[in-house]
Amino acid sequence: MGLYNDNPTLDGLTKTIEESKQGEVLELGLTQKSSHTKHFYIESYGCQMNFSDSEIVASILATEGYGSTRNMEEADLILINTCSIREKAELTVRKRLRVFDKIKRKKKGTLIGILGCMAERLKEKLLEEEKLVDLVVGPDAYRDLPNLINSADDGHKGVNVFLSREETYADISPLRLGSNGVTAFISIMRGCDNMCSFCVVPFTRGRERSRNAFTIVSEAKDLFDRGFREVTLLGQNVDSFKWENPETKQIVNFAQLMEMVAKINPLLRVRFSTSHPKDITIDVLHTMKKYDNICNYIHLPVQSGNSRILKLMNRTYDREWYMQKIDEIYSIIPECAISSDMITGFCTETEEEHQDTLSMMEYAKYSMSYMFYYSEREGTLAHRKYEDDIQLEVKKKRLSEIIELQNRISREVNLMDVGGTFKVLIEGTSKRSDQDFRGRTSQNKMVIFPVQEGLKAGDYVFVTITEANSATLKGHIVN
Ligand code: SAH
Ligand code: SF4
Ligand code: F3S
Repeated sequence: MGLYNDNPTLDGLTKTIEESKQGEVLELGLTQKSSHTKHFYIESYGCQMNFSDSEIVASILATEGYGSTRNMEEADLILINTCSIREKAELTVRKRLRVFDKIKRKKKGTLIGILGCMAERLKEKLLEEEKLVDLVVGPDAYRDLPNLINSADDGHKGVNVFLSREETYADISPLRLGSNGVTAFISIMRGCDNMCSFCVVPFTRGRERSRNAFTIVSEAKDLFDRGFREVTLLGQNVDSFKWENPETKQIVNFAQLMEMVAKINPLLRVRFSTSHPKDITIDVLHTMKKYDNICNYIHLPVQSGNSRILKLMNRTYDREWYMQKIDEIYSIIPECAISSDMITGFCTETEEEHQDTLSMMEYAKYSMSYMFYYSEREGTLAHRKYEDDIQLEVKKKRLSEIIELQNRISREVNLMDVGGTFKVLIEGTSKRSDQDFRGRTSQNKMVIFPVQEGLKAGDYVFVTITEANSATLKGHIVN
């Protein structure tokens, strides 16, 4: 399917998305021995959307005759797909640029391009600050890459940071970088129309728009036909997915889209991320319940457990409302795992209000969380309206408290799985030993268990859990 249906087998991903926290490095160095005359090297930072975008970029470059390389020294084009979510994410990118500069000084013709959210946030300013950079390309401008590369080859620096209201790259079949051949991400929408006061994403990704539902289903079907067994539907706020069929004028909402994907084949697992608590509907929960292959796992970031802080954050729900949502999920899908994102030390947060986040974590029994301390971002509502007045040490102290608590809760909820038997999709062998398989339960928990002959990545097995810690379950296959 698609315009760029070029899917050479690539391997050599050094770090998978599972290991990389949101806002942290995700390297997409690839090895591909090929006959290509030109090679690109790409590194990605940030969220899964960025990871997914790098696969679109790879697909666009492949049609231009570019092969991928894992060795940046042999690349003609070095790309860095960047994240702006926290100051630290941007600092990491700046450090990587120093490394790329060295290569460019040795090999003059090498082009360096900055893609993604930092490109969008800083625009032309990046060219002034980063003298050796040739291209600055925002998240909605990747189709323009071939043109920009051509002019850069002629010595003209290229900037395209145009944010679109329509672009969804719907027709581009992503080139699956470093894929395990079993699990894949599918972008179903772009941008974000929420205005969480701390967040830079609406500025770097533009307005929310949903992708043509049929192209999503055909991408998922194509993946299934190629042996993939799990797809994760991606968006900053998947529950507000809304696509109107231009011919019939019928609207497809997220619950309906999920059902369309789930119906492709019962052997294809469906996951999704991220759900904004205000938008997840009862229909979504009932659809999850109805289909065995829709995983019992919801990433439902709370950000804070305190109503006053949630109001300042402009999350549009309060503590009680969120708690009711948690109750509703567990009552409809008792076996559901819920995970979260939390920010400590948001503007004016008191010690007591911080305690509300801790008690919320106990209440929701999150299986895991991504946790951060507040990092002020220029241009956001919070930057304009509130003072970033919590001392760094306090932010960090509160962060270490929530991390410690999450570890305890994760261990407790995981220990409750000991003795139970779960359907696990094998993703490959364990990183530590090729005598063990690794896979995930429907609840998105990583399970390690001894290899059994005749089984391979992409197969489903039933595993009885014998051991658990805060991060993984261990067990053995049962028949
Ligand atoms: N769309 C997703 C989140 C995307 S950003 C959602 O609404 O949940 C991922 C996470 O980064 C956020 O959930 C938040 O916890 C964190 N984050 C965003 N901006 C931040 C900031 N300025 N400082 C610290 N953490 C931030
Ligand atoms: Fe940022 Fe809020 Fe949009 Fe998530 S929902 S991307 S936190 S503005
Ligand atoms: Fe970062 Fe942009 Fe994602 S700011 S978290 S890469 S949308």
